Amino acid sequence: MATETTLSQVYPLGSRLNGRGRLEVGGCDTVELAREFGTPAYVVAEDDLRERARAFVAAGKETGQEDFHVVYASKACPCSAVLRVFAQEGLWCDVASAGELHLALAAGFAPERIVVHGNAKSETELRMALEVGVGLIVVDNFDEIERLEQLLSQNAQTNSGFRSAHVPTGGAVHVRPRDDPHADRPSRTAGVKACGPQDVLIRVTPDVRGETHEKISTGQADSKFGFAMDHAREAIARVEAVDGLALRGIHAHVGSQLLDLEPFRRAAAGVSGLGDFPVWDLGGGLGVAYTAAQTPPSIADYVHAVVAAARAHGIGERRLLVEPGRALVANAGVTLYTVESVKQNVSTWVAVDGGMSDNLRPMLYGAVYEAQVADRFGGDTRCRLAGKHCESGDVIVRDAVLDDPRPGDVVVTPATGAYGYAMSNNYNGVPRAPVIFCRGGDARVVVRRETVDELTARDEL
Ligand code: LLP
Repeated sequence: MATETTLSQVYPLGSRLNGRGRLEVGGCDTVELAREFGTPAYVVAEDDLRERARAFVAAGKETGQEDFHVVYASKACPCSAVLRVFAQEGLWCDVASAGELHLALAAGFAPERIVVHGNAKSETELRMALEVGVGLIVVDNFDEIERLEQLLSQNAQTNSGFRSAHVPTGGAVHVRPRDDPHADRPSRTAGVKACGPQDVLIRVTPDVRGETHEKISTGQADSKFGFAMDHAREAIARVEAVDGLALRGIHAHVGSQLLDLEPFRRAAAGVSGLGDFPVWDLGGGLGVAYTAAQTPPSIADYVHAVVAAARAHGIGERRLLVEPGRALVANAGVTLYTVESVKQNVSTWVAVDGGMSDNLRPMLYGAVYEAQVADRFGGDTRCRLAGKHCESGDVIVRDAVLDDPRPGDVVVTPATGAYGYAMSNNYNGVPRAPVIFCRGGDARVVVRRETVDELTARDEL
């Protein structure tokens, strides 16, 4: 009986199979969602996002760490509604481009809670960060130090006033985070001229290799991100010499989708000797379960481990930041597809109406996902779940087991909340999929489906 099937940790919190054996996410029947909003569609359980954000914050409180902040790595799902939820939950936000900075401001993050990343920040991006008065710029390389110095000295000469009344476009409204003692503090975007130097961190590559796909491993010595450990002291001295920059601390990020806590501990150990700084940002990277067999550390175990490692290495009394992306959003989302064709060519090929335009992860990293027919979980048809795109690599799940899949069936792939929407694209002229938030049985479109007219909207003939 489908109703007796227990859903694994891969599905959004609160998901279940309803009396008709259909997957429900956020209290909404996914077959009805497919009918109402079309497919492919990203479906996100809003309560799941909030619960995970609260789990991070609560874990920080449990450690007794006074000055601990959770910085949402917005690249994981740069969707305004998702950003807004995390702003409301009192998180900070990591942005890695002017575009992500724009999205974070528009979603309501106070500038002082924004951390700016990037290994190739442009002058425009740095200028915007300075004008907005972001909380921290994470300096990645010597050229960036020079660029910042030039911008600050040009500004001093013209006195054009960084951080003066920069109002982001898009009608930004600051949301009031839950339980935020500083919520009534005036924000810089309200036109308050903030003075003083720009706070920065220096990003170092800690020479720690975690076990993950090489394309998402960043902490090894030969990385494109950050300063090599050998150059860190020189970088510190160079930043300290720039008028207008205040070096506040160190940033290190080992990599992404890490299912073991040891690399996080090694990174804290590795960088802690670089000096006595008030801020330590230990990056993101906590892995998630994409399949029922995977058992990542819990959010609490991760936070406890990071804080304990910081304390063990003498940086525990400082401000600690962690930057989760995937662990906040991956399991909150599922993708719905419709089966278009089923054929037998050695394997059984089940082709759906999306693919590498909505989820590049199987193609880029060999990422393994699960799939089910949304109203017939289980079954024993071994098949390849293929996308609609014009290349053989467009396979979403290589070894799926579905219940006698047929054209018209709605198929669900869980754990697609991270880096799916973020890396979506228009390959083969496929309009990008909508994002639907579900909560307590109500569904609302937070990103509408792209139209074919939008595919030509930027073209000049
Ligand atoms: N902080 C920094 C500086 C980062 O570079 C990243 C991810 C994060 C935080 C968040 O990492 P997370 O907690 O999400 O693992 N497209 C790839 C992931 C690339 C991650 C890049 N940086 C994927 O789909 O797996």
